[in-house]
Amino acid sequence: MDLAAISGDIERVIVTEEALQARIKELAAQVDKDYEGKDLLLVGVLKGAVMAVADLSRALQRHVEMDWMAVSSYGSGTKSSGVVRILKDLDRDITGRNVLIVEDIVDSGLTLSWLKSNLESRGVGSVEILSILRKPEAAKVHVDVKYVGFEIPPDFVIGYGLDFDEKYRNLPFIAVLAKHMYS
Ligand code: XMP
Ligand code: MG
Repeated sequence: MDLAAISGDIERVIVTEEALQARIKELAAQVDKDYEGKDLLLVGVLKGAVMAVADLSRALQRHVEMDWMAVSSYGSGTKSSGVVRILKDLDRDITGRNVLIVEDIVDSGLTLSWLKSNLESRGVGSVEILSILRKPEAAKVHVDVKYVGFEIPPDFVIGYGLDFDEKYRNLPFIAVLAKHMYS
């Protein structure tokens, strides 16, 4: 889907398709280097990280495995509470594995902070995080995110996996949702 189809729904594009793809190649090169000679399991957080895992994994110049988790953060509307429930767990045991969690966005940090400790408690070799976006001004807890695509202001964004009411995930760029869409 392209910009023309949704131009009335957004305020502005904040990360273009070109910028996203270029940054993912850079992150992939960094991951290739950091995990050279080591096992690597990408854990994508459904559904927002689907595009990120698809693009990142294809930019890596190495074998990689993928698994997926779905979590739901209890909370009202667009705010997360930090109380997380696993809707879909990993398919395989991760004992001893080097896990790289791939997320779409770190907002308050509550979801990822919970998820990282959850995976760390399973006897893994290592757990690191890659997030396409981070909203530093929205942080409520510190989470060590090793790989960040872009830092953005605390606006509600859509595209490249991120949804509003399950729509806009298939935009190839990231945009700020227009206020009239939700107020
Ligand atoms: P926390 O606050 O726990 O939340 O870091 C992370 C999760 O909240 C969702 N989220 C967003 N989804 N546009 C979205 O479509 C946004 O601007 C946004 N901010 C947070 C997202 O599911 C993320 O995993
Ligand atoms: Mg998410």
